[in-house]
Amino acid sequence: MTQDQLKQAVAQAAVDFILPSLDAKSIIGVGTGSTANCFIDALAQHKTAFDGAVASSEATAARLKGHGIPVYELNTVSELEFYVDGADESDEHLNLIKGGGAALTREKIVAAVTRTFICIADASKLVPVLGAFPLPVEVIPMARSHVARQLVKLGGDPVYREGVVTDNGNIILDVHNLQITNPVELEAQINAIVGVVTNGLFAARPADLLLLGTSEGVKTLKA
Ligand code: 5RP
Repeated sequence: MTQDQLKQAVAQAAVDFILPSLDAKSIIGVGTGSTANCFIDALAQHKTAFDGAVASSEATAARLKGHGIPVYELNTVSELEFYVDGADESDEHLNLIKGGGAALTREKIVAAVTRTFICIADASKLVPVLGAFPLPVEVIPMARSHVARQLVKLGGDPVYREGVVTDNGNIILDVHNLQITNPVELEAQINAIVGVVTNGLFAARPADLLLLGTSEGVKTLKA
């Protein structure tokens, strides 16, 4: 199977997983990226089975609306049963690195209000130790140099993501060469740097379920 076929398979598995729990009032949290896009396209086949969605990015909101799925502001929704999103890396405990698509802050906010966070990914994303994928950090623009210096003190090599402005008007530093053996601690340490909005470690709030696309079929991992 190609990587695209694996993404489609996990997207369909996520739809199959949530469908029995949906009703006309259900609002679903939807992530960002190519795997999340597969999920949106699969979900659109069942748009009469639920009310609408909360989007983790402007790009996702546009894709949902393109399918005729109503998009709600998170502030109008008190809690979400499901949030479905991809990841750049996951370890076996479902700690994630996210933010390859620069949507990490909104993704983390949607995950925070969700009861069940379902991560969908092809098998290449499952790693023994997080950090081969450079860790994205969203930063207030004027704090870029200060934050970069603090990240070097933590042992990383931050690289400014040229030409990228997040949906929140900020910049991204991608931190290379981290061996993330304690993701909960590192997530908190980086978030404590003045000027950091958030970082792409999802460890304080990991995924609840990982649907992993493999050549032998979709495997389900639980936190
Ligand atoms: C966006 C993300 C994505 O979930 C992550 O980058 C994975 O993307 P893809 O499904 O395209 O591999 O965190 O900010």
